[in-house]
Amino acid sequence: MKERIQSLLKRIDGFSELSEEAIEKFRIEVLGRKGELTSLFDEFKQVPVDLKKEIGKELNIARNKAQEKVNELKKKLKESAESVGRSVDLTLPTASYELGSRHPISIIRNEIISIFSRIGFNVTDGPEIESDWYNFTALNFPEEHPARDMQDTFFIDKDVALRTHTSSVQVRVMENQSPPIRTISPGRVFRNEAISARAHCFFHQIEGLYIDKDVSFADLKQTLLYFAQEMFGEKTEIRLRPSYFPFTEPSAEVDVSCNLCQGKGCNVCKHTGFLEILGCGMVDPNVLDNCGIDSKEYTGFAFGMGVERIAMLKYGVDDLRYFFENDIRFLKQFQSA
Ligand code: DAH
Repeated sequence: MKERIQSLLKRIDGFSELSEEAIEKFRIEVLGRKGELTSLFDEFKQVPVDLKKEIGKELNIARNKAQEKVNELKKKLKESAESVGRSVDLTLPTASYELGSRHPISIIRNEIISIFSRIGFNVTDGPEIESDWYNFTALNFPEEHPARDMQDTFFIDKDVALRTHTSSVQVRVMENQSPPIRTISPGRVFRNEAISARAHCFFHQIEGLYIDKDVSFADLKQTLLYFAQEMFGEKTEIRLRPSYFPFTEPSAEVDVSCNLCQGKGCNVCKHTGFLEILGCGMVDPNVLDNCGIDSKEYTGFAFGMGVERIAMLKYGVDDLRYFFENDIRFLKQFQSA
């Protein structure tokens, strides 16, 4: 009898077929009413008393093992059937997911960077939280001067504020580098203004700075003409109007011919044929000296533009707020190159 139990255990251990029929056959032959175990348990009745304990234990082990084996193989079979079922239907459509697109402000910022990098400008940046020195004083805004009111500032304390323009980066660059300097500084700026179609409490600017020996106003004008034509098309014209900024002398505001009506006059350009795009000028000698650059040896020009403004003109967007609302119906209309 011991031998029969041993060979049954071997059969149980060795059985591994993964088909429903084979498992059922195995179950009937081993565990079934007329199966091997039933017959062994019948025979067990004749086992002498002194061997009953030992053999009974082995029989129970064999029965448990057989049951476990059947359960285990059935489970495996079910799992493999499920995974086969899953991978087999190649005609099912795949789960679709939407591809994002670059934000229009990023697209325009990258384009502006690319235009200026083609004529040798590098890219610099600075912090959004600035001290009074970088945002105002070094840029020739005298203390208590009304020019500080030109921009409504978010102050953090008396001496620290959210920068109101990226001109602050000019100062940092000039303090840390010696001419020739040719750099543009993109970044976010903040102003305490009521939000409307034309103004927001934060937006993006790109500052430009060129310092070297003998840099002239003609260089500035030609650089801006190159930029305007690269950005808005080769027929674009520019117009400079005298203006005032504390950090430039002389200063100007620059308009481009309206790319919607080709300068003929429309609602967007208010029938003037021109649209304002940026402020600029020759860096004031006081600013050069404040930043440790000898104003007797070097001259330079600077300009600053709003990225949203350029994006609105380029894409014909008439409300600044669209750029900050994260409405994907708006955002997905812009494709980056
Ligand atoms: N910082 C000015 C502003 O925020 C823009 C500007 C004007 C920058 C003239 C300049 C400049 O560098 O020369 O409105």
